[in-house]
Amino acid sequence: MALKTLKDLFLDELRDLLSAEKQLVKALPKMAAAAANPVLQSGFEKHLRETENQVERLKQVFEVIGETARAKTCVAMEGLIEEGGEIIEEDAEPAVKDAALIAAAQKVEHYEIAAYGTLVTWAGMLGHKKAVTLLSQTLKEEKATDDKLTQLAETSVNPAAARK
Ligand SMILES: [Fe+2]
Repeated sequence: MALKTLKDLFLDELRDLLSAEKQLVKALPKMAAAAANPVLQSGFEKHLRETENQVERLKQVFEVIGETARAKTCVAMEGLIEEGGEIIEEDAEPAVKDAALIAAAQKVEHYEIAAYGTLVTWAGMLGHKKAVTLLSQTLKEEKATDDKLTQLAETSVNPAAARK
């Protein structure tokens, strides 16, 4: 697709993010299964449900701007998930693996926070108020997930890993 306008760019980025979220829906159950810390495990499970909802919310965004919900392979998310997969396969001390899983998950969240932040700004410039509202909701969820991961790392996972 030729990127002639900001609208084209917005749509292109939206399709990238739809791919990213769909990839994450497949990856999160594996992250949850690999986590030893029960709070981390349930955190991944909770974020899986949130992510499924974020896929639906993205589809709503396509709808409100009158476009077809089509995904375009997000290569960045493929790479981040591949790295997460390497951690899952690693023969590691459980507490150390948990610390690594949090690091991988936070890289994903930071990617998403950057992407949604940009989309919120562009939606605003394009006058798509409904899209701004929807995308902002997801941005808020991603930030909250990132904060929870930081808190869990600082209060229990990193100290447990440091004892090994
Ligand atoms: Fe997400």
